[in-house]
Amino acid sequence: MRNIDELISELTLEEKAGLCSGADFWHTKAVERLGIPDVMVSDGPHGLRTQDLSSQNPNESIQAVCFPAACATACSFDRELLEEMGEALGEECRRAGVSVLLGPAVNIKRSPLCGRNFEYVSEDPYLAGELSAAYINGVQSKNIGTSIKHFATNSQEHRRMTCSSDMSERTLREIYLPAFETAVKKAQPWTVMCCYNRINGVYGSENKHTLTEILRDEWGFEGYVMSDWGAVNDRVEGLAAGLDLEMPSSKGVNDAKIVEAVKSGKLSGSVLDKAVKRILEKVFKYADELPEKMPLDIQGDHEKARRFARESIVLLKNDSGSLPLPERSIEIAFIGEFAENPRIQGGGSSHINTKTTVSALEAAEKISDVHYAKGFDRESGETDPNLLSEATDLASKCDATVIFAGLPDSFESEGYDRRHMKLPDPQNELIEKICDVSDNVIVVLHNGSPVEMPWAERVNAIVELYLCGEAAGEAAVDILFGKANPCGKLAETFPKKLSDTPCYLTYPGNEHAEYSEGVFVGYRYYEKKEQDVLFPFGHGLSYTTFEYSDLTLSCGDITDNDTVTASVTVTNTGSCSGKEVVQLYVADNTGFAKRPVKELKGFEKICLDPGESKTVTFTLNKRSFSYYNEELGDWYAPTGKYTVMAGSSSADIRLSAELKLTATVKLPFVAHENTTFDEFMDYPEGKEALDILLPNVAGGMLGGDNFEIEAIRAMVNGMPLRQIRSFGGITDEQMYAAIESLNKNFGGSKWQIPRK
Ligand code: BGC
Repeated sequence: MRNIDELISELTLEEKAGLCSGADFWHTKAVERLGIPDVMVSDGPHGLRTQDLSSQNPNESIQAVCFPAACATACSFDRELLEEMGEALGEECRRAGVSVLLGPAVNIKRSPLCGRNFEYVSEDPYLAGELSAAYINGVQSKNIGTSIKHFATNSQEHRRMTCSSDMSERTLREIYLPAFETAVKKAQPWTVMCCYNRINGVYGSENKHTLTEILRDEWGFEGYVMSDWGAVNDRVEGLAAGLDLEMPSSKGVNDAKIVEAVKSGKLSGSVLDKAVKRILEKVFKYADELPEKMPLDIQGDHEKARRFARESIVLLKNDSGSLPLPERSIEIAFIGEFAENPRIQGGGSSHINTKTTVSALEAAEKISDVHYAKGFDRESGETDPNLLSEATDLASKCDATVIFAGLPDSFESEGYDRRHMKLPDPQNELIEKICDVSDNVIVVLHNGSPVEMPWAERVNAIVELYLCGEAAGEAAVDILFGKANPCGKLAETFPKKLSDTPCYLTYPGNEHAEYSEGVFVGYRYYEKKEQDVLFPFGHGLSYTTFEYSDLTLSCGDITDNDTVTASVTVTNTGSCSGKEVVQLYVADNTGFAKRPVKELKGFEKICLDPGESKTVTFTLNKRSFSYYNEELGDWYAPTGKYTVMAGSSSADIRLSAELKLTATVKLPFVAHENTTFDEFMDYPEGKEALDILLPNVAGGMLGGDNFEIEAIRAMVNGMPLRQIRSFGGITDEQMYAAIESLNKNFGGSKWQIPRK
């Protein structure tokens, strides 16, 4: 075992500062005299974008396999799949000489407009965390590091490098941090990449609250933090806040600032030593078991990419059993440029140089005599009347028409946001016109984020491919012709229109993005608002059917220290094998805090043959029932009743069961003159003290009128005690006695009367 502390003691101040920034765009620095090697990092997340700096065109990356992007793999709801994909990527990194893969990207999908949603996992933090931890475990099982990104609240591209994501601590903890938290706790990524943006006014690259207090002190992160490329604002502040490695190289400028800060005493040398230690630990973890460089396994991984794509595709609609299609007995039209030229990935830093794309048209021609018409030009905003009439002509002569539609590259990408949620007009027009001449229309979508579907009612089937990687075409054909049974579920809600979305009024902001919708993101918003959606979170159809039975809780009466298990049996009641994603949601019925209608707290994907049943068991703990209580500065599950629900989607709950939970934690509370009546009544002690005074309140305030106690209570609920006293409802003595009796029970000292 190498002694890193000893090594650090031999480094000069300049060498230490130098190690805290890259040598170039992709490498850390070496210190040859002490045998410290440089190592390479590469994007990520769904394939290798490794630039060969020695080649004639260093901007072109090596040829690599493009796996489905996270928008697609998230729909697999399959931890094992993500782990296997991680293993495949880890293996490719070993072959290519890459020590850290820059991914996964787990920012929450706050608005469908975020240009980079295709790279992100979900609107749900639990799902994003579970799948990302699996991916990280897969990559790191090959002794290759990961860099989970972008920490944190980078949920838009508009002004991503300066904008401040402003939100409450509760929103941060419940929605925007848990994916990172789960990944750190379950998989210890070697590195975390900080975001470009500010978080509540402070740059992610110099935010002590997120980088040190939360990431390291609370969650126990052991690796190093690197900057997003060029995200450093003030290097010395950043180092002090917990940013270890700056990427890419600052060409010595910031290294000199670090040296100067240590010399002047502005920065403690031990802070620098700690950062160097964290970086070197991971450099040597890789370099001490240096894998042999080899060519990538392009063909083997292509087959994996095809399987992963198949398991991720979501069948959104399938009326009249339109799918699967028979291979021979009917005339089938494939229409739309995406059939011959599929969009398989998004633009920006995750773009893979892949050569092995097989289109759906090519794949289908191997098994069926499909007819093809281009229908529209992928990148064009204008309808081509010739292409349109050729397509409608073909569709009118066929028994089934599959339209391959999608977003052009220019509509969504890293670096900017979408302006609307629509498909290009020529495609919407084409779909409507084809529906005029055919009653069996199937739409296959290539997009990184939800689109409006004004024609959804008119078509028989909709298949969501997302950006499904280099095998998208083959996988689509596998699903269309029933070679594979669809088993993906939406990892995000498809709203009907943009103006229905939770942050429609505030997105994207400019200098500040106000996250005023709080924790009500995705289905948490639509359900609370009772807003109809096009397709709900967790939705996805199969060619078979599943029945749910026997939802059983191990205990119906628990405290917040207990765990409880929920078991449910699922049976395949159809005629072919299939996979079901069993989803477990929890609803807080206590009414104590404003909370979503329900939240995902468990999921399992199971494979069932016809007639087969399996029982799935989930474990729920305090966190499953809690919200983040800001006064407590911790997770808190209020006393009361909760509902545990098992379902096939967020909108298709099949079974539910109730339990009672008792909180063992008391919320911090000091009663005083300005404590309101209803705050008092939240506590049994307060209730006891004030209930007996209610008749006095009625008598004093309301002049003895004959009011019902409940009406009085409603009237005085928001009044501070001093107000009730001044109306003559209670005396000074009674007020202070009530305050004291409450504070005694909460450890508050006598007559503690802070003003609100
Ligand atoms: C992106 C990161 C990426 C890095 C390196 C940045 O612009 O935000 O996700 O890993 O570039 O390419």
